[in-house]
Amino acid sequence: MRVYKIAAIPADGIGPEVIAAGLEVVETLAACDGGFRIETEHFPWSSAYYLEHGHYIPEGGLDRLKTFDAIFFGAVGSQQVPDHVSLWGLRLPIAQGFDQYANVRPARVLPGVKSPLIGGEGIDWVIVRENSEGEYAGNGGRAHRGLPIEVGTETAVFTRVGVERIHRFAFDLARKRPAKHLTLVTKSNAQRFGMVMWDEIFYEVAADYPDVKTDRELVDAVTTRMVLKPRTLDVIVATNLHADILSDLAAALSGSLGIGPTANLNPERQFPSMFEPIHGSAFDITGKGIANPVATFWTAAMMLEHLGEDAAAKHLMAAVEAVTAAKVHTPDLGGNATTADVTKAVCDYLRARKAFEPRV
Ligand code: IPM
Ligand code: MG
Repeated sequence: MRVYKIAAIPADGIGPEVIAAGLEVVETLAACDGGFRIETEHFPWSSAYYLEHGHYIPEGGLDRLKTFDAIFFGAVGSQQVPDHVSLWGLRLPIAQGFDQYANVRPARVLPGVKSPLIGGEGIDWVIVRENSEGEYAGNGGRAHRGLPIEVGTETAVFTRVGVERIHRFAFDLARKRPAKHLTLVTKSNAQRFGMVMWDEIFYEVAADYPDVKTDRELVDAVTTRMVLKPRTLDVIVATNLHADILSDLAAALSGSLGIGPTANLNPERQFPSMFEPIHGSAFDITGKGIANPVATFWTAAMMLEHLGEDAAAKHLMAAVEAVTAAKVHTPDLGGNATTADVTKAVCDYLRARKAFEPRV
């Protein structure tokens, strides 16, 4: 029996609702498969915890997390804590502390889901986001606060190591997909140092991947291409901030922000990787039981794949797609199903089609 230790950090807003749903489907899957089991430990780190204790992650917290096979993360962000405090208090210390430099965000229109875009059913993208530096390096400062001469700086940091490894990761990923097509996105017309270096390193790395087709686009122009010619894109590699913005657009174009999954990977596996839905806390629907759990299910499938449970991951996605096709949709997709309805439908499917393909 293969056993995986999962650290669950549901955190804020709808995080606890979707993580509970996600764990329920993974448990169901494990029970059907019989070949693996998960051992989950819940960590109460959240904005409520911060307001009570003065910190998100307690002393030694990251060392504890390090012993897990994967981290299953809900959402962080609260109306009681400034966003930059919650982000830098919880999510970034894990992602950066565990060198999860590859943030992978697939976007696809699932069966039964309507893209707001004409021709949107052609969307099948993976956005590869640099996740350890760039505009999120935390490099800046403020001086003369409150005075007319106040100054604030926010300097993006791009390192050769950081840029090269994300490009290699993106090429490796693109190579495994049928289209084998990678689009480089930067803003190297206006930003002539770090961005030009990004472009240069991309083409250096490209020489090692002659089988992958490449092209390049400026970040502003790629938004129009995503909307007007969705089928011309496959894998996109971009900086931390650019890919952050593009991935929200991608999720919305594929039907709802409630669908998009994320893997924050440490590809070398020196540290656990972290898996989270893209959507965030969503205060407007917190506690109503109507959060779309599909993003978290898809995220769980990415986690299983990372753990080597490919058959289980495929089975889970087949279940999710059967349920979206059957129009068991939460309100963000125009339906009136609850989180529990969708979760039950997925679990029922998993149980009904118990058999797994043999594990390869
Ligand atoms: C994301 C989110 C975060 C980010 C926010 C919550 C800071 O938008 O995961 O895309 O920008 O990284
Ligand atoms: Mg974002």
